[in-house]
This record gives sequence, structure tokens and C-alpha cells, in this order.
Amino acid sequence: MDIDWARLRAEAYAAMGRAYAPYSRFPVGAAGWDGEAIAIGCNVENVSYGLGLCAECVLAGNQRTRSAARLIAVSVCDSRGEILLPCGRCRQVLYEFGGKELLIDHPAGPVPLGALLSDAFGPDDLAAGRT
Ligand code: THU
Repeated sequence: MDIDWARLRAEAYAAMGRAYAPYSRFPVGAAGWDGEAIAIGCNVENVSYGLGLCAECVLAGNQRTRSAARLIAVSVCDSRGEILLPCGRCRQVLYEFGGKELLIDHPAGPVPLGALLSDAFGPDDLAAGRT
């Protein structure tokens, strides 16, 4: 599957432009590809600081709202358009919709999410431990 990383980065950058980040003043944009379409997200902060949403969480919700397809590739950037790596919580959120094969943009070249979130707790673990 061909992934157009340049387009994904451009979409992440455009999404960053719509961020609501008056508290951190650190706008973030994210874009994900599912093989057919691109879903985007930006961080959405809140006056109750801990309630802020990361760009990747907004992306995950937008993706799921649009399609049941799995994410294949994700790119995240800051206000300079520099690649950002998802925070720990967002790695877990993305894992739900792309698993360990999901490719995450990285300055050294895309890396599978499984390498960024090794031995992840996933849907299979939940099934295994059910009584
Ligand atoms: N942020 C994201 O949107 N994604 C990340 O992976 C890291 C951090 C946001 C959260 C907050 O609005 C701002 O960046 C500063 O932490």
C-alpha cells in the first residue's frame, strides 16, 4: 500500500492551523490514512487544563466517525510543521484503531506503533482474561 507521507504531513499541518490551544500555546495537528481517505485532528484545550484533548484523540474520533476502516499511517506535527511523536496516552488510543502495524511518522522514517508502544495492552488481552 502506497502511503503519501507528503500529503499526510500537509493535512496534519493544515489541521494544526485549526488547533484550540490558548493555554499551552502549542498547537498540534494530526492526520491519518486508512487506505481510502484522510482523517484529521487538532488539539482542543480547556480552561480546566486536564480536560484538554490531544490532536491524535480528536483524529481517532474523526476517523471512527467517518469509517470503520483501520488506520494505516499517522503523521503529527507542531506549529513549525516539525514531526511530533504521539504522547503515551495517544499511542494507546491510536493502537485501538491501527494496532502494532500502524505506521507513525518519525524524523528518521516511519516506525510501526508496536515499536513505540511495545508489549501493548490490546483487545486480545481483554478477551483472554474474561471469565
Ligand atoms: N499534544 C497533542 O495534541 N499531542 C501530543 O502527542 C502531545 C501533546 C497537545 C496537548 C496540549 O494541548 C499541548 O499539546 C501541549 O502539551
